Amino acid sequence: MTSERGIRMDRVCYTVGGRRILKEFDLLLERGVNRTILGKSGAGKTTILKLILGLLKPDAGAISIDGTVIGGLRESQLIPVRRNIAIVFQGGALFDSMTVGENVGYRLFEEGKLTEDEIERIVLEKLSFVGLEHSIDLYPAELSGGMKKRVAIARALAAEPDYIFFDEPTTGLDPIGVYNIRNLMLRLQAEGKTTLMVTHDLETAFAVSERFSFLHETRLAFEGTEEEMKRSEIPEIREFLAPTERSLFISNSNNTDIHP
Ligand SMILES: Nc1ncnc2c1ncn2[C@@H]1O[C@H](COP(=O)(O)OP(=O)(O)OP(=O)(O)O)[C@@H](O)[C@H]1O
Ligand SMILES: [Mg+2]
Repeated sequence: MTSERGIRMDRVCYTVGGRRILKEFDLLLERGVNRTILGKSGAGKTTILKLILGLLKPDAGAISIDGTVIGGLRESQLIPVRRNIAIVFQGGALFDSMTVGENVGYRLFEEGKLTEDEIERIVLEKLSFVGLEHSIDLYPAELSGGMKKRVAIARALAAEPDYIFFDEPTTGLDPIGVYNIRNLMLRLQAEGKTTLMVTHDLETAFAVSERFSFLHETRLAFEGTEEEMKRSEIPEIREFLAPTERSLFISNSNNTDIHP
């Protein structure tokens, strides 16, 4: 273990079902430098987040979190490392049989370290951060898509992580819902959290991130700032930022995202 703070992926390879998803993929998430990973649907963006969380194991390469290489760790050793990272899953992934409050406090209850009163105080604080303290006794089925995402954010915050991952946080939301999520992400960053987002939503990406990684056909095709990305001559980047008819042929040629 070193004193390095941040998350690093070094030449990570990952294959599933005989299909290569990542080939020697590098990523650096420095503390306080918010990053977005861009890439087409099915490129492997969610896979990257799951690899960092230790939910999937790479075939080759190394992943380190604040100087600890997670590859050789047992499940029990992974717990404290993982505790510092929360993820707001694509779709929210709330427990339907639990109330909003129970969803937010779930992890703290499971850990059994705090009293019920202490947990309730934290749950209320996190729900008011996302503007949903009055929905504490509702069930997920009674919430809109945007509210569910905000509950998922409150749940992610309950354990006071330093890193928060957002998997497509704005997909399916109306403009007000998108604005709310962006605003929450910026407030979290102002409080010192480091965010890593994966998305296709370029406008949100540019609003909340300083650096961008573009995943294209298993590889890191680009890494840099918004300005560098907009100036990039890399054809895949230009196509992603401003799709033209050529995209039809790009999509068809690699057999992904075909909409007949
Ligand atoms: N268990 C599995 N078996 C076979 N293929 C899988 C499996 N899990 C994931 N994949 C494939 O891995 C690829 C990457 O999946 P991933 O969910 O990381 O993509 P993504 O970039 O997050 O896509 P999206 O933008 O649609 O969420 C996909 O093409 C998917 O079909
Ligand atoms: Mg995904």
